[in-house]
Formats: sequence, C-alpha cells, structure tokens
Amino acid sequence: MRFPPIVPGFSQLIHGGDYNPDQWMDMEVWKEDMRIAKAMGINSLSVGIFSWTALEPREGEYSFGWLDTILDMMAAQGMKAMLATPSGARPAWLSQKYPEVLRVSEDGLRNQHGGRHNHCLSSPVYREKVQKINTLLAERYKDHPALGAWHISNEYGGECFCPLCQERFRQWLQRKYDSLDALNHAWWTAFWSHTYTDWSQIEAPSRRGETSVHGQKLDWKRFTTEQFIDFYRAETEPLKRITPNVPCTTNLMGTYPGIDYFALAKALDFASWDNYPQWTGYTKDDVPLAAETAFKHDLMRGVKQRPFFLMESCPSATNWRPYARLHRPGVHILQSLQAVGHGADSVQYFQFRKSRGSSEKLHGAVVDHVGHEHTRVNEEIARLGSMLQGLSGVVGQDTPAKAALLYDWQNAWALNDAQGLNNVDKKYFDTVMDHYRALWSQGVQLDILSEDADLAGYDLVVAPMLYMVREGLGQRLRAFVEAGGTLMSTFGSGYVDENDLCYLGGFPGPLRATLGIWCEEIDVLLPGESNEILYHGQRYRLFDYAEQLHLEGAVSLAEYRKDFYAGKPALTVNALGKGRAYFLAGRLEDGFMRAFYQDLLAEAGIERFELPYGCSLALRGEGEEEYAFLLNFAAEACKVNLSGVDALSGERLEAVELEGHGVRVLKRLKRG
Ligand code: GAL
Ligand code: ZN
Repeated sequence: MRFPPIVPGFSQLIHGGDYNPDQWMDMEVWKEDMRIAKAMGINSLSVGIFSWTALEPREGEYSFGWLDTILDMMAAQGMKAMLATPSGARPAWLSQKYPEVLRVSEDGLRNQHGGRHNHCLSSPVYREKVQKINTLLAERYKDHPALGAWHISNEYGGECFCPLCQERFRQWLQRKYDSLDALNHAWWTAFWSHTYTDWSQIEAPSRRGETSVHGQKLDWKRFTTEQFIDFYRAETEPLKRITPNVPCTTNLMGTYPGIDYFALAKALDFASWDNYPQWTGYTKDDVPLAAETAFKHDLMRGVKQRPFFLMESCPSATNWRPYARLHRPGVHILQSLQAVGHGADSVQYFQFRKSRGSSEKLHGAVVDHVGHEHTRVNEEIARLGSMLQGLSGVVGQDTPAKAALLYDWQNAWALNDAQGLNNVDKKYFDTVMDHYRALWSQGVQLDILSEDADLAGYDLVVAPMLYMVREGLGQRLRAFVEAGGTLMSTFGSGYVDENDLCYLGGFPGPLRATLGIWCEEIDVLLPGESNEILYHGQRYRLFDYAEQLHLEGAVSLAEYRKDFYAGKPALTVNALGKGRAYFLAGRLEDGFMRAFYQDLLAEAGIERFELPYGCSLALRGEGEEEYAFLLNFAAEACKVNLSGVDALSGERLEAVELEGHGVRVLKRLKRG
C-alpha cells in the first residue's frame, strides 16, 4: 500500500536539515546557503527550532523580518520548510521575569536559565507564551508556499518535579483511580507502611523520597508521557486551528526511555526522529550496530505504522560522541538509504551550516567553516541528493511485513525497575536485538508494535521478555495462535500485570495456557557463565537466564545440558488451534538464533533471503512498485545472489556486487 506524501502535494523524498540562519543574520551568508543547498540537491530546511529570542527579543516585541526573508528565499527555489515552534529553549527575559517556567530537578531545586529543554510542562505562563508565539507564527505563515510541516519544539524529554507538576500528578492519579483504595491496592502500599490516607500525601517518586513502590514509579512515567502529550496538544492548538492542513510532528529519539512513544505518537500527524549511530568504519564489526539502527527505524515507523521522517542525522562527525569519528567513504549514503529502506521519506541533517561558536561548532554539517561546498563530505551529500531525486517513487510506500516484534516502553519500565533477575542489566534491549538480528540478517521485513497493537494480518509475532502482560493481551495472543499464527516467546515473560503486580497462580500468567508451560523458577547466570543446548545435533551456548519449565501440553525441542537442571526443557512448542507457540528459556548465541529462525520462517511461510554477513535487505512497496534496498555494513565487498533492475541506472543485474559500505536499490527483485 502507498500512503499520500507527508507534506501534502510534495512527492519527492525530503532532503535537508536543521538550519539556524539567525546565528548569522547576514544576507550574503544566506544567499550562499541557498546556492549550496541547491548544489546539494537539498529541498527542505528546518528553521526556527531555537529562535525564540530572534523572534521575540523583548516581551511582546516581535521581529519576524529575517524569517520572512528566509522563507521567501526557500520558496523561490521550491523548498519546503519544517517550521519549528521555538519552545525547546526560551529567551533570558522569560526566565528572568517568570522563574516558574524553569524546571525543578529531582532534588527539588529550581534550575537556572541555561541550556535548553529546561521548561516546566505545567507552567501556565510558559504554555501561554508558547501558544502566543505559535499563534503569531501560524497566522503569519499560514499561506506561505514554503510552509511544509510544523516541527514542534525539539526532542521532548526530561521531567519536572515542581509543585505544579506534583499537583497535576495527583490530579491525574485521582482521575485514573477514582478512589484511594484502588490506588493503594494497585501500588501495593501496605508494603513498608506506605498506605495513603489523603491524596495530598502523594509525591512524585524521587531519590529524595520514594524509590521502592513500583506501581508509583510506573505511574509517574506514564504521567510524564501524558504531560508531553498535553503540552504538545497545547502547543499545536493554534496550529491545528489556523493551518489545519499542515502536518505536525516532534522529533523523537528512537528508544529514548523517558516517554512512551507509542502513546505520544497518537497525537502526532507523522513520526520523525534523530539518528546518530557511532559507526567505526573498519576497526570494529559495525554489523550489530547496523541491526540496532535498523530496529530503531522500524520502531519509528511502527509508532504510527506508516512512513516517517529522519529529522536529524549527521553527514560527518557527531561531536558529542566520545570519539567524534569521521564517516568512512560511503557510510553517509549507506546510513541515509538504510533509513529510507526502513520507511523514512526524508534524509535530514543536523546541521546545515556549522555554528561558529558554542558547543556545536565542531558538529558535522553540510556547510563547513571553510564556507564552500568543495569538500569530501559535500561530494557524498551531493551524490546522495541526486540518488534521492531518482528514488522519489519510494515516497509513501509501505513496508510489506508479515512478521511483527513486540517492543514496549511500559514493559521496559516495569522490567528495568524490578529488583531481581539480573540487577546489573535486565538485558531487555539485548534480548530484543537477539531476535531482531536473527530476522534482519535473513532479510525478513518486520513491524515493531506495542503490546496494545492489533495482531491481525501477521503470521509471526515475536515477543521477547514480555514481563508485563497488560489486560487483554493474553487473550489476543491466544486468539492469534489459535487462528494459525506463530508466537515466539521467551524467558522473563508473564510476570506482572499493568500495575506491576505479580501474577498469582504461576508464571507466565496469562500466557501459560497458550504456551503450554509453567515457569516455576528462573536461574540467573553469572557474567562469563554459560549453559548449553543441542539443536539439530549442534551445541549452542546459553547465557544470562535459564527459566525452569514444566511442560503442560507443550513439547520440548531442546534441553539444558549442564547444572542441576540438565535434561530439563529449554525450548518448547505448544500446538494450539491452527497455530504454534514457542518458548525459549534463555539467551542463545547468534548461531542458534539464526538456525532456529530459519526453520521457524519456513514453517510459518515467511519469505527469507540468503544474504552475506553484514548485508541487509529492506523492502518498500509491492509488485512493480517494490524497491529493494541492499545495504552492506561490512567493510569488505560482497556478492548477493539476487537479480533485478537497478532502480537508479536501469541496469539489469543478475547478481549484485556491493563494495564495502556499498548500497544498491533494485526494482523487480527476482525471488527463488
Ligand atoms: C540533537 C538535537 C540537535 C543537535 C543534535 C546534535 O539531539 O536535536 O539540536 O543538538 O542533537 O547531534
Ligand atoms: Zn513543573
């Protein structure tokens, strides 16, 4: 299926990035910027992200002239602006006159003016000031031909512990629980004499106070997510009213743990995110990082189940990394087309023109301090620019996935908060990646879904460490399997409900009958320790966890070979209705994961591909409109035995030779 373009009527892949003309305020510089943008095949710039002071230098005194000029210059070359609301950082006069807009830290101290992302989300003054400036921006530019989308604030994140936020937390809890009895039960407050007898006694959990009541900590995180949603709604209210047809987004941060992006994404018109992987190039195997980055793209597509924007990425050295390494030749094009292959309808950068001063002056950019475009980095950006123009047929194309992987923020919050299991690292993300990598390396197209998603239409659902099973999920997974689906489940699943209260009557709680097992205990392996299983006569090592199972209808496919549980099941399958439910009791090495999934995919009838190590395949679209992105993350050249037509050159290829860090996009990919 094909979605309409994100920017209405603009059916090219967006290429551009964050642009801060207000750091220059010089017409000669701006003219050069436009010229260089054109030479790079850039068709969009994100402007105004931190421009509040440039727009409102003194309270109620406005200065839009510079932005008028920039937008006019952009429109003159057919460019689209991602026009930002400036709330990510505030003018000094605002903090000085209304200190209540500043955040209060967990220690209860009011922050000083500095930095960015330093505002209280509850502050009525801040909300009013933001709405005012947003209204003026929308009224002024509502009919401007350059206006493509609204870029709301920047990378929402953090928390505020001020009295206003605490009060809103209490109100939110009252709405959620209605009665204190219900709250006390959900939070299990009889523990350590924590029972509340009045709503006013409740505070935000913090290191100065409550750190042990899991239900409370979970609710605080949910509340923080709600705060951002509410703030976003307040910010976008004037925009939605004045420019109803201009889509809004805020740039997300992949797996950032502080906000449930599945919840926030419901409020967005489209998702966008900022991607800064630290590629090494040659010295280390970048393949696991390539898989992780692919996963994050799939996740960012998953939060809206449609194409997204890659709102920021770095064309060269990311200056805040421990080692601000250069991208090796080809890596910029490779990482950009990886994003597009996984569902991005844009490749955007931080930053267009490099700052001259302050902390980002050495951050990679399109226009370097040298001031012209005759650089190594620009050569690759320009090459990518023309590739993106040639690939405009990709815009709006969906990813044809028959397999889904469940990744869930609330699950991560609860699991990581648990005291028990492995307290150094629960390994949720590692476990998710074990499964993802095994599928990604075989060219399987995957959707990433939350626990609340509709599972209809999928043949395989992979649910690693589903520690929290919220109301209804148990039944939905059961129905999915009964109807013929394949479920892949693992250790650490079915421990707690949505309030972080343990399931009574045996783990994995609501998954027990579906999986046909009872998990009596779980052993935790020490670092460096391993157990072992045999699969098709081959030995594989098992790490970190060893769940102790009883078969209740399931059959064992492999057993532990060491320790006091040698001979007990470690991999099981339960036939249920027309489907099957698998359970893996520990973390297995990659070789097993690959071999096992190869069998599982064959059984579930899901398409897989034979790819050399480090090479991945991302598909968008279907039939004549199918685009196959072959991406080589290894430093060595490789050959892929797939044939098709090069989408850019039209050349017919019987096999695809990829250089180290090379990419090819094919149409009419031949199967079999
Ligand atoms: C992002 C941020 C940008 C810029 C960039 C540098 O997180 O949104 O404004 O700071 O990092 O890599
Ligand atoms: Zn606050």
